Amino acid sequence: MAKVLKLVTYPNPLLKKISEKVDVFDDKLKTLTDDMFETMYKNKGIGLAAPQIGVLKQIVVIDLQSEEDENASSKQYVFINPKIVSSSGSTTFEEGCLSVPGYHEIVKRKEKVTVNYQGLKGKEQTIEADGLLAICLQHEIDHLNGILFVDQISKIKKTFFRSWFKKNCKKEE
Ligand code: CO
Repeated sequence: MAKVLKLVTYPNPLLKKISEKVDVFDDKLKTLTDDMFETMYKNKGIGLAAPQIGVLKQIVVIDLQSEEDENASSKQYVFINPKIVSSSGSTTFEEGCLSVPGYHEIVKRKEKVTVNYQGLKGKEQTIEADGLLAICLQHEIDHLNGILFVDQISKIKKTFFRSWFKKNCKKEE
């Protein structure tokens, strides 16, 4: 049975760290991604990066099926060592993050991205993504580089975020 793991939330310094490449593709990796999906579903997210559960490895899971749209089909994407190799266009989307619970802000992103990654068994693959998947990939890959969506917004919005955070969130225990 997959486990629900504890989420690392802002301002935990782990979220600022750069994640290491995965070079062992074993059963433990599969178990970890199963637990990441379980954790993501439990918290009603559509994407989760390993640093968010305190593991500094380049692992991302995505399933765009959301609570609001239960009829949308569920597709589990696992991206090991994902890297954006090309991108085009621009778009904006109101993003949230399981590591910054309760906060949403419009973020500017590339409209399309091409991502090289490895599968659970280490097989090299490429995906060309647009729409929500492209946005989600950029958000999650940022996590692997120690970047949060609140780092990707304007100075004015950052100031707003900090005062929102002071008001709404107590310090992590
Ligand atoms: Co996030």
